[in-house]
Amino acid sequence: MPGIVIVGAQWGDEGKGKITDLLAEHGDAVVRFQGGNNAGHTIVRGDQEWKLHLIPSGILYPGKRCVIGNGVVIDPRVLIDELHALRARRVDVSGLRISANAHLIMPYHLLLDSAGEAKLGSLQIGTTRRGIGPCYADKAARLGIRVQDLLDEKILKKKIVAAMEPKRQSLRPFEKDPALDLHTMTEEYLTFGHQLEQHVADTSKLLWEMLDAGKKVILEGAQGAMLDIDHGTYPFVTSSNPLAGAASVGTGIGPLAIEEVWGIAKAYTTRVGAGPFPSELHEEMGETIRQRGGEFGTTTGRPRRTGWLDLVALRYATRLNTLSALVVTKLDVLSGLDRIKVCTRYRGPEGAVFEDFPYHQTVLHHTTAELMELPGWSEDLGECRTPSDLPDAAREYLEFIAEQAGVPVALIGVGPGREQVLWTEAGRQTLLGEDAVAVSGRSAL
Ligand code: IMP
Repeated sequence: MPGIVIVGAQWGDEGKGKITDLLAEHGDAVVRFQGGNNAGHTIVRGDQEWKLHLIPSGILYPGKRCVIGNGVVIDPRVLIDELHALRARRVDVSGLRISANAHLIMPYHLLLDSAGEAKLGSLQIGTTRRGIGPCYADKAARLGIRVQDLLDEKILKKKIVAAMEPKRQSLRPFEKDPALDLHTMTEEYLTFGHQLEQHVADTSKLLWEMLDAGKKVILEGAQGAMLDIDHGTYPFVTSSNPLAGAASVGTGIGPLAIEEVWGIAKAYTTRVGAGPFPSELHEEMGETIRQRGGEFGTTTGRPRRTGWLDLVALRYATRLNTLSALVVTKLDVLSGLDRIKVCTRYRGPEGAVFEDFPYHQTVLHHTTAELMELPGWSEDLGECRTPSDLPDAAREYLEFIAEQAGVPVALIGVGPGREQVLWTEAGRQTLLGEDAVAVSGRSAL
């Protein structure tokens, strides 16, 4: 029953989409299990670029099953636009299945997201303003509208009435007359229902049957561990659980169906939006990494905050997810630096040292990163095709990361192309089932 989970091991934007797309070649289904169109992936295939926000990365493979699980929040307008855009480029989207239980982002969720941020003023979270938080809030309050409701006009209308009235009240201070018309909204959502109906299914059952038949199912997380609503840097987090544990709940398959959990981490760290970031770089080096790494959001275009690799956070993410392997992306961005720094511990204002991620928000906000220097390399890595092509210093950097995290590196990203993802022995052995010589966590490069 090989379920393989791919999760972000940092603050999102680690390159999960590209890695999922690559692994999808070896899988039978690709599934999203949480988040919504706050996520964004860019996939490069030859000279073609694809930007996806909701549809799983596997859609570019003809005949692969792609699933949007019950844990995802769907803005139907965005989903339909994405489907149109794919069809226009002759991508076969017939393999897409959408959970009937997934919740829908409604127009009032978008308004509430912006109003909520405005209300917070200088304490803003810096959300993507896609309505994610308010939609999950309605789900928990049992006021949510689900995909299946689109297929029943009477129920849809009833549910919109119940959910919308309280929103009018809370939006009043921000908009005198919010454009929330019951009739228009119902008609619009019914039309969305007609357009999506062919894709709606009992995806939990479908996935179970695939797993039972020994098919490989890849479960693709959005965002990253540090944005997890329970274990991340709350309240500067998203409103779902981007951890491997959520792959089970967000799709309706049991946890024992999951065999592998791969965590994706950049060779450095980025974060979008507000919140603590101990290894953040404010000076010129931060800007250098931002420019070299093209660190601007796929979804909002916002410049990302940049910093050195944070191993305290990475060890935490490894534990929270029980990662079985790491994928280190964008190693090429660090080429040309004499010395590379990494954060191995945090130090509190009174000198306390933190090897583990501090659980208390106040403590975390006042910690600074303790940095260690490692030798850099000058070579361009774009032409490397196997880990042995990498300069010694780059390999040592990866070995250091694997040792600190306590899990092997399975894949290494050295550029945007598919051919620029290098498989280590550990990666080949776990995913492709190939024999590898003496694979152990640290010597697998
Ligand atoms: P929300 O998910 O739009 O509510 O935003 C909450 C926080 O998560 C903000 O700091 C966002 O910048 C961040 N966030 C949400 N989605 C992503 C993502 O895909 N990558 C990086 N940060 C994200």
